[in-house]
Amino acid sequence: MQKTASPKTYRVKSFGCQMNVYDGERMAEMLAEKGITEAPEGEDADLVVLNTCHIREKAAEKVYSDIGRLTKGKTQKKAPMIAVAGCVAQAEGEEIMARAPAVSMVVGPQAYHRLPGMIDDAVAGKRSTDTDMPADAKFAALPKRRKSAPSAFLTIQEGCDKFCTYCVVPYTRGAEISRPYSALVDEAKKLVEAGAKEITLLGQNVSAWTGEDDRGRKLGMAGLIRELAKDPDLKRIRYTTSHPADMDDELIDTHGEVGKLMPYLHLPVQSGNDRVLKAMNRSHTAESYLRLLERFRAARPDLALSGDFIVGFPGETDAEFEDTLKVVDQVRYAQAYSFKYSPRPGTPAATMENQIEPQVMDERLQRLQAALRRDQQAFNEASIGKTCEVLVERRGKLDGQWLGKSPWLQSVHFTGDAEIGDLIEVKLIQAGQNSLAGEIVA
Ligand code: 5AD
Ligand code: SF4
Repeated sequence: MQKTASPKTYRVKSFGCQMNVYDGERMAEMLAEKGITEAPEGEDADLVVLNTCHIREKAAEKVYSDIGRLTKGKTQKKAPMIAVAGCVAQAEGEEIMARAPAVSMVVGPQAYHRLPGMIDDAVAGKRSTDTDMPADAKFAALPKRRKSAPSAFLTIQEGCDKFCTYCVVPYTRGAEISRPYSALVDEAKKLVEAGAKEITLLGQNVSAWTGEDDRGRKLGMAGLIRELAKDPDLKRIRYTTSHPADMDDELIDTHGEVGKLMPYLHLPVQSGNDRVLKAMNRSHTAESYLRLLERFRAARPDLALSGDFIVGFPGETDAEFEDTLKVVDQVRYAQAYSFKYSPRPGTPAATMENQIEPQVMDERLQRLQAALRRDQQAFNEASIGKTCEVLVERRGKLDGQWLGKSPWLQSVHFTGDAEIGDLIEVKLIQAGQNSLAGEIVA
């Protein structure tokens, strides 16, 4: 590789989950610290970071086509310095280096604190790959938080030890680690000082977080939530994503007792059939999952529920798929995500027999999504007439219109006197599939 000028502007493109969004923000902060500024919308960037996701279909192919477009002048006039980050980088680092000479650096999700040094290498004409997984080193090396949107993400836990048989996360993000309590309290404080009104705690298994407070007492995520809730300037707390195995009584109680913990729970079930759940290596049954939700709802009756589903796991029969629909009918999710099973290289399910035909998967996904849409619409309609606070996140398309989120994570739009970051009392008056209209309560 040739020596090149130091990049002056950057663009970070994040794909996939909220943890990637968080990582993308942290990389941007590091670049800013290095004196590289964000390229204005529509203008060429000297450095492009592709922050990739590997969870489902064709992720790697997408990366190669993005690289192709960047080098062939389709995305911007001048080919930029390219960094590939995220889970595809972790899973296929060496391959990317071999296949895509235009890529200057490949950096995994646990090593991106080393990005500034890798940029210096690239400037000196040296390509580099870093997919190490040093436990915990990354966060300590990142700059302090100085900027925040009204709704901020805070990664408290990373990695996964659950090894669901379809999932790449334990391989790309590594073993479960919890960030230390004091570091989290500090980062939350900085985010609030920078304007955050809401913080969403993030982790692949967020409720598996454990730590110790200043006096050496052991804490779970519920304890962390209670501590963060003491900050008067922090108005809302959320967390995602949880595994049913890590939900304890204290967390359930916290939903009933801490008003700032928003009435919304994303708790993936994946399938409603016990044989399939076992083959997925999920440690719950359909029944134990439903009972757990009942306990949450008893603690917080207005709780909105969300989940993840996979259709067409290897060997899933029609009757087994029907069990998933039954769970949906019982839970009545406010909102949910559903996917066709996608074999991930290196996972146990990828080599299981009886992989399901694509048409069968399509048909099952359509039926499941129709049921989920029905419930989402019904949930939104049931909100009509309620008055709630909306956290204003941005301007809408119309003059004087604002967009924000209800406590139940519904998108709400309204017009009137407001500012970004305000919590405005709004009456919900009209419901669509994906959003609601409201009016300011005088
Ligand atoms: N195929 C399809 N969906 C998957 N997910 C994870 N791995 C796969 C896969 N191999 C889904 C799960 C998980 C969500 C983040 O992505 O539903 O909860
Ligand atoms: Fe993947 Fe299962 Fe871990 Fe979630 S709990 S990240 S689905 S292995």
